[in-house]
Amino acid sequence: MDEKVAIIGGTGDLGFGLALRWAKAGVSLIIGSREAAKADEAAGRIRASIAGANVTGSANADAAAQARIVAVTVPFAAQAGTLGGIRKAFASGILVDTTVPLAAAVGGRATRVLGVWEGSCAQAAQALLPGVRVVSAFHNVSAESLHDMDTVPDCDVFLCGDDAEAKQKVASLVNLIPGLRALDAGGLEMSRICESMTALLISLNRRYKTRHSGFRVTGIK
Ligand SMILES: NC(=O)c1ccc[n+]([C@@H]2O[C@H](COP(=O)([O-])OP(=O)(O)OC[C@H]3O[C@@H](n4cnc5c(N)ncnc54)[C@H](OP(=O)(O)O)[C@@H]3O)[C@@H](O)[C@H]2O)c1
Repeated sequence: MDEKVAIIGGTGDLGFGLALRWAKAGVSLIIGSREAAKADEAAGRIRASIAGANVTGSANADAAAQARIVAVTVPFAAQAGTLGGIRKAFASGILVDTTVPLAAAVGGRATRVLGVWEGSCAQAAQALLPGVRVVSAFHNVSAESLHDMDTVPDCDVFLCGDDAEAKQKVASLVNLIPGLRALDAGGLEMSRICESMTALLISLNRRYKTRHSGFRVTGIK
């Protein structure tokens, strides 16, 4: 992948895990944070653990301005504000939205999802940034399984989006991570289903005392 990828919220659990894996695969990355110093620190940790990693850190809007593909990995409660903060810097390009509307984001249960007026977090992102092509992904990937570089994650990644070329590019990014398989789940409106499936995984994780459950779809070569 020649294009630079920015990860807004890349200091957190999912974003940092993706950054580690993409850095290992040779992707040029910019970690975004509300605080440039925090982004710098996270980028430094990745460079320290992945030999040859091409990773820098910037404040969110600066990070978004430097990339044509921007992944947003922030809690549901922060999604609208974060997207509003990068709107001017990122008026076109591909937005990879990972947001899950877990009730936990507003003090409720992690096994419950909230209704989103637009239908899903991905559709809310598209409404906020009409000029970008939104592809939603990674809702069902355990951040912990990405952090532990001694393990290979084991799950399918459902991609939802209305632009085939954008989905193909995001699929290439997914497939750079060993153990993940990108599956085209359909248009952006399918994201509502994929987002809500995360609550099921959290419930399974609790019952089976793991943090790594995921989905594998059979019957697709
Ligand atoms: N964790 C998982 O296993 C997982 C798996 C699949 C999907 N997801 C989804 O991915 C998204 C990120 O999850 P996460 O667990 O990585 O989240 P997180 O670690 O709690 O937060 C990620 C980053 O978001 C920023 N942030 C946090 N609170 C904020 C606020 N109030 N306003 C603005 N920015 C804020 C912070 O970055 P700065 O302080 O540097 O700005 C933080 O490092 C969520 O929507 C989640 O549902 C998570």
